[in-house]
Amino acid sequence: MASPHLSATISLLILTAAASLLSAVQSSDTNRVYSPCSDTKVQRSDGFTFGITFASRASFFLNSSLQLSPCDRRLSLSNSQISVFRPKVDEISLLTINTSSFFPDSYGGYMVAFAGRKYAARSIPAFVANSTYIVTSFTLVLEYKKGRLQNLYWKRDGCSSCSKNSNFVCLNNQDCAIKTTDCKNRGGSVDCSLGIQLAFSGTDKHLSALNSWYEVEKLRQYSLYGLYANLRDSLTGQYNKIF
Ligand SMILES: *[C@@H]1O[C@H](CO)[C@@H](O)[C@H](O)[C@H]1NC(C)=O
Ligand SMILES: *[C@@H]1O[C@H](CO)[C@@H](O)[C@H](O)[C@H]1NC(C)=O
Ligand SMILES: *[C@@H]1O[C@H](CO)[C@@H](O)[C@H](O)[C@H]1NC(C)=O
Repeated sequence: MASPHLSATISLLILTAAASLLSAVQSSDTNRVYSPCSDTKVQRSDGFTFGITFASRASFFLNSSLQLSPCDRRLSLSNSQISVFRPKVDEISLLTINTSSFFPDSYGGYMVAFAGRKYAARSIPAFVANSTYIVTSFTLVLEYKKGRLQNLYWKRDGCSSCSKNSNFVCLNNQDCAIKTTDCKNRGGSVDCSLGIQLAFSGTDKHLSALNSWYEVEKLRQYSLYGLYANLRDSLTGQYNKIF
């Protein structure tokens, strides 16, 4: 797969990402907003808090037509689960959501990433799981303008990362899914925890360009499934080993 030189480059990036996950609060973090439902402006090296809500697709819409932020009280997200993250702006990070005691299909099977209140940004709902399939790998892009979050979107690669692996099913020409019966606690042996690769784009409040998206785009061709194989709690390396 990757040449030795390339592997070394990738390992270096992984160490950077792992280090940024470990040091949650650093002195260079000047952003004092810790709630995903508040507005803020960030600069590079700040932490940025956002949330991901798991619920049914319909529950993210008002009157079946208008998609609102999960922070909006007009939505009745009664059967839902929220995860809150604080990655460092402009560092590529892999977020993980352990599904050993939380299975997304019990909460409706879709997720929306969100942040902000007056300047509310939210992604479209992404399919995660139903009783048949689960999608475990995602790329989320956070797009800023002058340090203010404008948009969150799921970046799809048209199943190119799993097209050669017959254990994956390509859903709707966009998501690599595995059968839920392959998951631990569902009769199988795979850890079906979710991995969400983050990337940042746009400009920070000093108009500096956020470039981590460029890194992810470059790395992508080497498949995100292999990318984190060196991490101890790897979610992704297991696919090559188990299947
Ligand atoms: C949603 O529906 C309710 C009652 O059916 C109505 O009162 C309300 O104005 C509608 N809201 C929007 C944003 O369309
Ligand atoms: C999820 O949690 C279970 C139980 O604590 C653990 O065995 C498993 O390794 C965790 N998975 C990941 C990817 O961290
Ligand atoms: C699960 O989702 C897939 C992809 O959208 C769909 O084809 C399938 O029918 C769904 N299965 C159930 C039981 O809802």
